[in-house]
Amino acid sequence: MYRNINKSAITMLGIESSCDDTAAAVVRYEPNNEPLILSNEVSGQNELHQNFGGIVPEIAARAHVEKLDLVTKSALEHSLLTLSDIDAISVTSGPGLIGGVLSGLMFAKGLAVGANLPLVSVNHLAGHALTPRLTDNMNFPYLMLLISGGHCQFLVVKNAEEFVRLGGTIDDAPGEAFDKIAKLLDLKQPGGPSIEKEAKLGNPLAFSLPRPLIDRPDCDLSFSGLKTAVLRLKEKMEFDGQPLSTISRRDLCASFQRAISDVLLKKTEIAFHSFVKHTGSKAKSFSIAGGVAANLEIRSKLENLCKSQKVIFNAPPLNLCTDNAAIIAWAGIELYKLGKIADMSVGARPRWPLDQISSPMLGSGKKGAKA
Ligand code: KG4
Ligand code: ZN
Repeated sequence: MYRNINKSAITMLGIESSCDDTAAAVVRYEPNNEPLILSNEVSGQNELHQNFGGIVPEIAARAHVEKLDLVTKSALEHSLLTLSDIDAISVTSGPGLIGGVLSGLMFAKGLAVGANLPLVSVNHLAGHALTPRLTDNMNFPYLMLLISGGHCQFLVVKNAEEFVRLGGTIDDAPGEAFDKIAKLLDLKQPGGPSIEKEAKLGNPLAFSLPRPLIDRPDCDLSFSGLKTAVLRLKEKMEFDGQPLSTISRRDLCASFQRAISDVLLKKTEIAFHSFVKHTGSKAKSFSIAGGVAANLEIRSKLENLCKSQKVIFNAPPLNLCTDNAAIIAWAGIELYKLGKIADMSVGARPRWPLDQISSPMLGSGKKGAKA
């Protein structure tokens, strides 16, 4: 539904519950000023899922139901505002684990009706993709790489509603691969930081691991074969019942991290070319988001590539790269400015590709196939 909005400043309450973080935030936009994150509350569920080796959707949904009102109350309190100061409520209505998305959407609808506020329906991936505009006032169009436990895609962000997916994973997301390899090597979850720590002490050239799809001239990626290759190497080294030595484990971590960073580097180079094809001009800036963007080897490789290509490298602060509600509030502000208000019939969507034109990716990611 489109409505004419004639207001200059916007105070948005954002709500996020698409995976294992229950989050609420208040963000204020004023024309000609930097946006202000007045509060950003995130309640994680790591301890609820840690014995299951992954996120259990039913447990996640129940925990969201228990936490949504508490995090929202706390977000309002920390912003020093009340519901009467809020102009609209934006909520993630997909893609993600359906139970969690439904919990957040129902909660937001109830709040919107009760407080007589407009509701804005936000695609979770748009929240990530629009973050550089919240943090760095990035101009459209820009190139974006989302890399996390649930996402992996290159996007041309044309405007708040138009995204072109240049490519993405055809199986696991990179964070998922880090987590699975960490589990295989008996390292702590989440796997990314644990592997990065071990990798620092290992030799990245010790093992020759595959770089899946690296020779294909497109932006698609694959990480499941790499995972299997690490498993086979580990099995080979343990064949006579000997546990993996500390040195071998560190070398495996370093070699695995090197393989992932090599692939991401090469595919980003291709994405720069692909960006030109889609927009007719060279990318001025490149932004990364998602938990895996915290990895220093990956980050520095991509940053150096940008330097050599004279492209601005942008990485929002980590708390805004990972799942949170400030990015949902911000995406909501962008849509609200365009007059995009949802009606109460808006539904929860387990899958919701950002790019409405390209055919859907089959890739899964720990949050399930989504884009
Ligand atoms: O964005 P995020 O918090 O949640 C979603 O998956 O949406 O990302 C979490 C993922 C996990 O898979 C975690 O292992 C990975 O990001 N991660 C890292 C690092 N820190 C977090 N991967 C590689 N290196 C890191 N330093
Ligand atoms: Zn996310």
